Amino acid sequence: MSEVVTSEMVVRPLSDAMGAEIIGVDAANMIDADFERLRDALHEHIMLAVRDQALDPASQTAFAKRFGEIQYHINSEYKMKDQPEVLILSTEVVDGKNVGIPDAGSDWHSDHSYVDRPTAYTILQSVVVPEHGGDTEWTNMVMAYETLSDDLKARIEGLIGIHSFNRARNPRWSRVSRHKDPDEYYNRVSPPDAFHPIVRTHPATGRKALFVSPRFTIGIKEMDDTEAQPLLDALFAHIDNRDFVYHHKWRPGDLVLWDNRQTLHLACGGVKPPEVRRMHRTTVLGEIPA
Ligand code: OGA
Ligand code: MN
Repeated sequence: MSEVVTSEMVVRPLSDAMGAEIIGVDAANMIDADFERLRDALHEHIMLAVRDQALDPASQTAFAKRFGEIQYHINSEYKMKDQPEVLILSTEVVDGKNVGIPDAGSDWHSDHSYVDRPTAYTILQSVVVPEHGGDTEWTNMVMAYETLSDDLKARIEGLIGIHSFNRARNPRWSRVSRHKDPDEYYNRVSPPDAFHPIVRTHPATGRKALFVSPRFTIGIKEMDDTEAQPLLDALFAHIDNRDFVYHHKWRPGDLVLWDNRQTLHLACGGVKPPEVRRMHRTTVLGEIPA
């Protein structure tokens, strides 16, 4: 029997904070040993940019399924018709209509943290990369937790955050929206609140990370807002530190993956027509945070 030889996969860190680029693999055709190395690298570096990939929606879905069960978005409007596992993010407007979500992720967040089982991994295949704008940032929430003051660490020990998709209930919302009647929209589509520990432990690495976000964490369970909101403000002020951030300028062919249990991310926006940005997104269901 011949030995299984792993290919030339190279893992190269992208910043001091987090992130690594992966060179020398074809994500659509990875032997198990390479896939396991990739997943280990993802857990270690939190975000990976696999260079020079062009997965079609079916291959992207198959690749995502190697990580676990697909998580479908609550908003069905922009799921791909014949491949609903893939959600379209796009700034393109055709006949006055958006062809995909134009502004996903424009506040710091962890994907789907507003449900009981938030996303473990998000996978974005770049399809059209603009020359200007459309960058994405990630921040290292393990580092954020580890650098908290002893006082803050003690104050959040054992606390449970309240997460909601409903911007109308979020005191940090600027009320800028593409929806005509945002209050009606958010009240209609938002699922019931989800409750997650403010500090969670990663099931594979055992590392602790902060698990709160300005976008989805709207309060703290069994704590008055007079106490909870200033505490959340203090955590968000701590997270707002460039030392924790990796800023990604997309290259054509980038297939980007991140581990939502250890990071928040932000779409920087700023794509100006006629330039277009298009991404295909798949998400993998995570465990109940603990
Ligand atoms: C997402 C997201 C950011 C971006 O797909 O979950 O937040 O820059 N995307 O597209
Ligand atoms: Mn997101």
